[in-house]
Amino acid sequence: MPKIVLFGATGYTGRLTAEALVAQGESPVLVGRDAAALEKLAADLGGPPTAVADVAKPASLRALLERGDVLVTTVGPFLRYGEPALSAAISAGAHYIDSTGEGPFISTVFKRDGQARAAGSALLTAFGFDYVPGNLAAALALREAPAATRVDVGYFMQGPSTSGGTRASVAGMLFEQGFALRDGKVTPEPAGAHVRDFDVVGKTRTGVSVPGSEHFALTRSHPTLRTVDVYLGLPPAAARGLQIGSRLAALAGQLPPLRHGLEALLERTIKGSTGGPDARARARTRGWVVAQASNNSENPLATVTLAGGDPYTFTADIMAWAAHAALNGGLLDTGALGPVDAFGLDTLNDAVTASGWQRHEG
Ligand SMILES: NC(=O)c1ccc[n+]([C@@H]2O[C@H](COP(=O)([O-])OP(=O)(O)OC[C@H]3O[C@@H](n4cnc5c(N)ncnc54)[C@H](OP(=O)(O)O)[C@@H]3O)[C@@H](O)[C@H]2O)c1
Repeated sequence: MPKIVLFGATGYTGRLTAEALVAQGESPVLVGRDAAALEKLAADLGGPPTAVADVAKPASLRALLERGDVLVTTVGPFLRYGEPALSAAISAGAHYIDSTGEGPFISTVFKRDGQARAAGSALLTAFGFDYVPGNLAAALALREAPAATRVDVGYFMQGPSTSGGTRASVAGMLFEQGFALRDGKVTPEPAGAHVRDFDVVGKTRTGVSVPGSEHFALTRSHPTLRTVDVYLGLPPAAARGLQIGSRLAALAGQLPPLRHGLEALLERTIKGSTGGPDARARARTRGWVVAQASNNSENPLATVTLAGGDPYTFTADIMAWAAHAALNGGLLDTGALGPVDAFGLDTLNDAVTASGWQRHEG
């Protein structure tokens, strides 16, 4: 019988995802590198099975997977640790869902599209707050304005706090190349190349451009799209600071010894596996995702705003939903898929709504 395998179960997002899966009635195999931590987690969750695997020993994960299984992985930073899980899923003919927000890793997953199709695997990358709601909001806006050639998506949070794993992943991306959709093609471009304002529920908020999954996913259903930009909301001064920082990082990245030294320093000082915001902090967080479909950025043809809460709870809930749906025949295709192509627009919309993110009318 195909099963759900959750890799990274003892991490911050992994534990939330394990709880969400169990709440859905699933009994996922909880996988991590620490047997004692896995046993404790399983006991807290009513006794789902456990198994030990380590990215340093890729065969240990591959041995747990069979054709038709669904591998959910939260083992990050993905640029450092993600590849073994991706390869294990494709090699087994299993479906694959990850929680990455790292643009260069998203690009790696979409490059495995052909291999995944041949293997009968569906690859669902960045299936968390980054970047499911933006794909959904963009697809809803494009349904209202199918002739649009441009989409701008902005992600905005109020009162967020971050996990150690998120900080480690952001640090690991500092010297990596970003991308954007230009002339219908995903094109290298530094993160932070653009800064722009959005109207977010009546308030002007500033975002800085980042590489997301929307750049790869939206053109499948909308091949006439020429331009896609994704923005991360930051206070204006921080957005400009990040823009300058990203240019300095790009310069430093061209000097290999300096880059390696700085990367090693960041890896030592900004660590994952250090927990994240507690339930009270998560309950205080609010967020909005705005998608504008247009023929130029000044005059939107359609705007869709989704409003919701904490990104970690959403990530856990939507990954648990996707794993359950994938296990039960809900996938519409194989290969590297965006969230809409994987499940269909209305089905995804219902799942995102059930996970606490709803369309803001007004
Ligand atoms: N897309 C989104 O919106 C979104 C939302 C949440 C998180 N994320 C991303 O998801 C990732 C995880 O975040 P997090 O907050 O859960 O971070 P975390 O607490 O640091 O979790 C990382 C997990 O990776 C595991 N790990 C590290 N090295 C390993 C190895 N050699 N073999 C096996 N497992 C290993 C850790 O194991 P131990 O438990 O044994 O330490 C831990 O379970 C990060 O990349 C983060 O950016 C994205």
